[in-house]
Amino acid sequence: MPGSISAKGLFKAFPTPKGPLPVIEDLSLDIADGEFVALIGPSGCGKSTFLDILAGFERPDRGSLAVDGQPIVGPSRKRILIPQQTSVFPWQSARRNLTFVQDGVTEEEKKRLSLDYVNLVGLEGFDQTYPHQLSGGMLKRLELARALIVKPDILLMDEPFGPLDALTRIRLHAELLQILSVERHTTLLVTHDVHEALYLADRIVVFTPRPARIQCIVDVPFQHPRALVGGDIVRLKARILVELGLSPDGSFDRSKRPASGG
Ligand SMILES: Nc1ncnc2c1ncn2[C@@H]1O[C@H](COP(=O)(O)OP(=O)(O)OP(=O)(O)O)[C@@H](O)[C@H]1O
Ligand SMILES: [Mg+2]
Repeated sequence: MPGSISAKGLFKAFPTPKGPLPVIEDLSLDIADGEFVALIGPSGCGKSTFLDILAGFERPDRGSLAVDGQPIVGPSRKRILIPQQTSVFPWQSARRNLTFVQDGVTEEEKKRLSLDYVNLVGLEGFDQTYPHQLSGGMLKRLELARALIVKPDILLMDEPFGPLDALTRIRLHAELLQILSVERHTTLLVTHDVHEALYLADRIVVFTPRPARIQCIVDVPFQHPRALVGGDIVRLKARILVELGLSPDGSFDRSKRPASGG
């Protein structure tokens, strides 16, 4: 399955009234096809910007970025982003949101697949419902379905589980892993939840405060399903928290606080 990513020496700055704001600096990262990588870093450090660049919605100012050896020149159905902000079409029902993005199959097949994916993310009975009639967590689930139904080589998820209640989150984690074991999308997940990253990812990349550079990369060497108990996993969690400037006793390192605006 294709979907390998190679980023080398990426630099990105946004223009602001006070001058250029460097957001990503000297970022190099190789991701193998089928790998699940979680990205963690302080708020405002540049995580969403990095995903936007991978999706082809933003261009780096410097550096090179390739998927399966080909430079990224713009958005593609092979790289689907679930953005931090809701992006479903508000004028279409849940099911139409799913049929709309499908290509190359009959209308009948589109409808059948849409219903399958509506059910998969636990939205049974809501296929004719419009986005404004769904809760925040249900909307996120619809977005997940809309991304998965396209069967992209690369799935880019920007805090997709943030608004979900704890029980739905646990259920969707398990379902996502089940889907990935079959579809093997290369997956990048931005999250602030160390526990979630440890549960899902093969590797966790910790970013520095803005401008985002790689502070460290942590391998998660545990088989699925992961119970997330036991000394090894607790030590790994503590290590990542320390890298983020937090410590299990609740104190924190002020130099690693979230970036302030502009
Ligand atoms: N289009 C833009 N123009 C100017 N500045 C921008 C733009 N997009 C993002 N920024 C700035 O870039 C920095 C990084 O933003 P980004 O959204 O990538 O952070 P993030 O790591 O995803 O944060 P969070 O965890 O809060 O979502 C912020 O300081 C933000 O204000
Ligand atoms: Mg973000």
